[in-house]
Amino acid sequence: MATHEHLTRVEQPRRSLPRPGSGQCQNEEEYRRLYEQSINDPETFYREQALALLDWKRPFEKTFSGDFEGFGDSLRWFLNGELNACYNAVDRHANKHPNDVALIFESDTPGQGYKVTYEELLTNVCQAALLLKSLGVEKGDVVTLYLPTIPQTIYIMLALVRLGALHSSVFAGFSPSALRDRINDASSKLVITTDQAKRAGKIIPTKELVDKALGECPTVTQVLVVERTGEGANYVEGRDINYNQEVVKFGNYCPCTSVDSEDPMFLLYTSGSTGKPKGLQHATGGYLFGTILCSKHVFGVTRGDVFFCVADVGWITGHSHVVYGPLLNGATTVIFETTPVYPNHMRLWDIVDTHKVTQLYTAPTAIRLLRKFGEADIKKYDLSSLRALGSVGEPIAKDVWEWFYENVGRSQCALCDTYWLTESGMILLTTLAGVSPMKPSGAGLPFFGIKPVLLDPSGNEIVERPAEGILAVRNPWPSLGRTIRGDHQRYRETYLKPFPGYFFTGDGATIDADGYVFIGGRVDDVVNVSGHRLATAEVESALIDGRIDNKSILSDAAVVGVEDPLTGQALIAFVCLESWALNDKDHTTQTLTDHCNACVRDEIGKFAVPKKVFIVQDLPKTRSGKIMRRVLRKIVAGKNDELGELSTLSNPQIIDHLISVVQGPK
Ligand code: PRX
Repeated sequence: MATHEHLTRVEQPRRSLPRPGSGQCQNEEEYRRLYEQSINDPETFYREQALALLDWKRPFEKTFSGDFEGFGDSLRWFLNGELNACYNAVDRHANKHPNDVALIFESDTPGQGYKVTYEELLTNVCQAALLLKSLGVEKGDVVTLYLPTIPQTIYIMLALVRLGALHSSVFAGFSPSALRDRINDASSKLVITTDQAKRAGKIIPTKELVDKALGECPTVTQVLVVERTGEGANYVEGRDINYNQEVVKFGNYCPCTSVDSEDPMFLLYTSGSTGKPKGLQHATGGYLFGTILCSKHVFGVTRGDVFFCVADVGWITGHSHVVYGPLLNGATTVIFETTPVYPNHMRLWDIVDTHKVTQLYTAPTAIRLLRKFGEADIKKYDLSSLRALGSVGEPIAKDVWEWFYENVGRSQCALCDTYWLTESGMILLTTLAGVSPMKPSGAGLPFFGIKPVLLDPSGNEIVERPAEGILAVRNPWPSLGRTIRGDHQRYRETYLKPFPGYFFTGDGATIDADGYVFIGGRVDDVVNVSGHRLATAEVESALIDGRIDNKSILSDAAVVGVEDPLTGQALIAFVCLESWALNDKDHTTQTLTDHCNACVRDEIGKFAVPKKVFIVQDLPKTRSGKIMRRVLRKIVAGKNDELGELSTLSNPQIIDHLISVVQGPK
């Protein structure tokens, strides 16, 4: 058992210490006190914090109701309270500090960015809201966004929530088919995109991709097109509207629509262990509360800070830490359009130095990539403005942790390894910057209100420490996503039924004697490639559904995630051919691999393309037909002596064949 007992504790460096008056919890003692209160007296904790941190149009009457025993059906937070997300993120700061910088846009091409003050942000958001209103957007509507990380995306997200409408962001790396499914699932009437997007010097034809998706989206009647390059977009008469030309026609104030605390704020699609992506729906009051709380206490974000989160705005990290977290706390947020290595590997250091960034939040996959370029160039930059670093999305190995801490943080910044999920809406586990000692490679301690537990496969709590088990959470928290749009049954079955009385995270973990949690990785068939969460079933159905000359060519497919030094995990596909294709000389290994890659690229997106495709005679299956993915993972890792129990295999002779295809003939 990996207990992590050997890992050293790293005390919080002086520069990371909480600043008095910032509202951040000031020391470990206060963390412990507030944590205990959040667990033992949640009524007081949540009431006091929610009233202090958010502006309520109408204060809530009751703090919460419901529990996990009821499968989450009656979970409600801040009952009968009314508020507006945009008011909390923009207006209240624009009213008090109009000239504070809200956004710093770092465009794909360095030097072409600009800054936006809170006053300007308010105007831009209001104009966008008035335009959206004129297009018929109303409270409760779901508008699908297929947008890159640019300021207009932030204006539009905020404008939608200002009107009480929901944004449903689809990461602009998804293919038209994936976008189509998400638009149809949400029944959006309006889709918003750019004419083109720019990424690492390349042009992405976003509007063209949307047009392809819309061939099969019967609900969509309007497409709003933001000009990013001003080139190349084809406008469909009567359907497509140019955002830039229209938005300037509107006035600079649009009132906020107050919504009930439990009214939905946004949808975000995420992968589960079955093929179909799930539209996670977050509630307004709970999400805003969880986000402002973790942004403030984990990173110490406060007015005057420049927060730089490297995530794409189309994922939960982007929602919470590019947009809502920094703005709710009245800070400045960096809107980063490109990749950490464009135009070169010094881009992040240059941004930190130029804008005096105070917190830098990124993912292990980016850190591993940047580490390959060495340390010498980092030393050329003044990074002394940094107080905290953050990592998210996948486990951070000890050597990667140390490299980031020593070379970027110069051993003077906190490093918060934050563990959370699209579903959780806020960080669940981390050490708070400047507060608790850190342990390299460990997510750390529970955040306020979170009671992490380890379960054995039968659902019994493992109480001794250290221990290893399935990570679950014992009690509800405000920012937990409320449902899967249109399929509440699936929500219950995915999160609350596997272990009744607990929220099932999908991850395995160990907890050490000090209560520090170390995430092991997913225990279901979800794989994390460069921080992108993918269900192996999604990729398998993309492969199996693929056709050549209108004929199905793959009879079966299995996809597994294996360790990868750069991307964390990588996808490896095993595919079997239909009998007609077996002797067809047109199909070489290369053409079949190209076909498989194209299937995944077209159905999901480039980021999901397998690293390697093996064409095999059959898959290892149990007598009931279940694919034994564990066996495939071991064979890929070359661990032939660790294949485990094989007596349930219906086709044991296949093992030698698989080994010879993957590892070459003996
Ligand atoms: O496996 C865990 C991993 O990412 C999953 C959640 O993915 P997603 O919903 O896309 O959200 C990612 C960003 C919040 C989790 O089930 N994960 C996330 N953070 C960490 C992590 N694994 C280890 N350490 C982390 N800090």
